Amino acid sequence: MRIPIIAGNWKMNTTLAEAIKLVSEMRDELDAIANVDKVICPPFISLAAVGELIKGSSISLGAQNLYFEEKGAYTGEISPLMLAELGEFVIVGHSERRQYFNETGDIVNKKIRAALKVGLKPILCIGEKPAENEAGRTKVVLAEQLSLSLADIDLAGSLIIAYEPIWAIGTGRAASGKEANETIEFIRQNISQLYNKEIAQRVRILYGGSVNATNANEFIQQPEIDGALIGGASLKPEQFLSITRQASEISRL
Ligand code: 13P
Repeated sequence: MRIPIIAGNWKMNTTLAEAIKLVSEMRDELDAIANVDKVICPPFISLAAVGELIKGSSISLGAQNLYFEEKGAYTGEISPLMLAELGEFVIVGHSERRQYFNETGDIVNKKIRAALKVGLKPILCIGEKPAENEAGRTKVVLAEQLSLSLADIDLAGSLIIAYEPIWAIGTGRAASGKEANETIEFIRQNISQLYNKEIAQRVRILYGGSVNATNANEFIQQPEIDGALIGGASLKPEQFLSITRQASEISRL
């Protein structure tokens, strides 16, 4: 039985004051929702303050990125050790990082390794570009992303995967539940080949891309989908709470 995860990726939104306001608005209600792991990923500069506000609650904190070295002369970077002190999760290899910051499979691999080493739980994002999808190359692309990202990584620690088709991110054009379920089933088979059946059954795989309170149910109820990674709707308390409640209802069944 895999416990669903609803994770909010706030991306580059919210000032410190806005982050404090946003988390304060949903903290108590979010805390009260059972049977689902709730994760919020604010920008780096708000992690400490948001962490204080959710201390003692059932809400977990995640970062949106990390650097793979632990310390040193890497101006502007944030190390896994710094994050491990503050939160539990870290998003790695988001398509926006791959696209705008030239993150390659090798870099993503190093970041996952660095996160696992300090006990952070990586949320590895994979997903195909619109043209790759149209050309029927989705599975080839995902298999390659998985093998590069996870090369020589021992999965004794906790890994979460988020399947986020790039054509569905921030576009309002989500995949269908059935389509996402099939692709996630393929990802799980791939994990089974790279590792083994037991690990594949344990890894939680989320869907991300234009998930909102109206369509969330379509994804969460699918047998292979273990929750959602949410961008835009995670900045709206009533949306994020509604999605989390829906996941809780399904998980209870
Ligand atoms: P949207 O929910 O805004 O489409 O973003 C999805 C995403 O990229 C989450 O990481």
